[in-house]
Amino acid sequence: MAEREIVKEYSHGDFTVVWKPKKCIHSAICVNSLPEVYDPNKKPWIEPKNASVDKLKSQIDKCPSGALTYYIKGETENSEDMKNNTRVEVMANGPLLVHGDLEVKDASGNTDSKSGVTALCRCGASENKPYCDGAHKKVNFVG
Ligand code: SF4
Ligand code: FES
Repeated sequence: MAEREIVKEYSHGDFTVVWKPKKCIHSAICVNSLPEVYDPNKKPWIEPKNASVDKLKSQIDKCPSGALTYYIKGETENSEDMKNNTRVEVMANGPLLVHGDLEVKDASGNTDSKSGVTALCRCGASENKPYCDGAHKKVNFVG
């Protein structure tokens, strides 16, 4: 059976930041762009109350792996864009980003449904293959 995806939610008022740790490729774009919200040394590491909704939205849309998404109470979920329109993007020295809905079948025949953005390991060092887990940074992958 496919592993269950871990989903963490951090809310402030009607705004909820959703983080899927297994999708995170540790690009640190979130930490660098909104350090007042994202601090990996704190618990919880995401504090949405420390920034405006507009700032949160534009930063979350820049998360390259789709690990971060958000929803607003009463509105439909954001940013699971590109439905039915799959696009592959090569990240320099990093994973392959697949945008769109897809089904991933492993060597044993188990399938996993993915949507939004899925990062696939290109360096071979991930401990969560076929997905990227950020290990390309540790091994200084170039390619
Ligand atoms: S992949 Fe997304 S959640 Fe993970 S560190 Fe980068 S910006 Fe943050
Ligand atoms: S490409 Fe990220 S762990 Fe391999």
